[in-house]
Amino acid sequence: MSRCATVLIARPLPAPCEARLDDLFLTRRLPGEGPHPLPELLARAEGCDGLLVTLTEKLDRAAIAALPAGIRVIATMSVGFEHIDVEAARLRGITVTNTPDVLTEATADLTLLLMLGAARRAKEAAALIAEDRWGTWSPTGLLGVDLWRRRLGILGLGRIGAAVARRARAFGMEIHYHNRRPAPAETSAGATYHARFEDLLAASDVLVLNAASTPETRGIIDARALALLPRGAILVNSARGDLVDDDALIAALESGHLFAAGLDVFRGEPKLDPRYRDLPNVFALPHIGSATIETRTAMGMCAVDNLDAVLNRDGLALNPVTLGPVT
Ligand code: GLV
Repeated sequence: MSRCATVLIARPLPAPCEARLDDLFLTRRLPGEGPHPLPELLARAEGCDGLLVTLTEKLDRAAIAALPAGIRVIATMSVGFEHIDVEAARLRGITVTNTPDVLTEATADLTLLLMLGAARRAKEAAALIAEDRWGTWSPTGLLGVDLWRRRLGILGLGRIGAAVARRARAFGMEIHYHNRRPAPAETSAGATYHARFEDLLAASDVLVLNAASTPETRGIIDARALALLPRGAILVNSARGDLVDDDALIAALESGHLFAAGLDVFRGEPKLDPRYRDLPNVFALPHIGSATIETRTAMGMCAVDNLDAVLNRDGLALNPVTLGPVT
């Protein structure tokens, strides 16, 4: 087995992935849990052939330009790759790869958790237990809303969106979606297509965001979009925080126009608008969509497979990213 290629690993991975990296490459690691400042990563990349990064390593145009000449591949352990300037990498002849498919089911599970947590007031309910404030069972206490029979709108019916839809059908929800084009029949599975995003909004009792962060989707959930949702709707975001205008969402949650929100991702995370912490109708989690032992191991292995394909085999990545939408 070739051991000549050197790979810099930006963050510690699940143990089986680390062992496989040591088996396949000469490895270099940044110390501790990270994330590390970019200059540290760039300095340690000197003499390396490949980088294994995550969504916390922001490789913008300037960072890509500053990478040492030997870097041939950047494998990100994530499906999203908006943290990497793919075009700048392409111009330097660097292949960028991601980890699609393996995280679909775990992320869809988490999306249902957000939907349930928001609909059933899980934040307020859990606080009663955590703070020892539970007085009595109450016929009128902590009333949420049914998901059964409600309309689920999905922005971005790709792999994860379709897995969310499958689960939601089992909950008795009616599925609607908006993509730039209708999804193939095996993906849409009878869901109602809305060619206009505005029409999806009007048809969504629960709106789930499953679109990638792109120039077209950033800020797409603004005051106008929120006003088009039916009163009492729920917003769920397990995609990227920058799809949402925080001021507009917080205003809609405060006014009662929205019943609740379930959020796993935030603009500028891990810092988030502190008002989200205070709002009782925000069920928030710290970006754990793919965080299961099985899925994170599979994601790590997928990133390693891509490095192996490019650096040790025929040079052809298994999951090269393209500049189209990621779902
Ligand atoms: C997580 O958000 C990912 O892009 O994999």
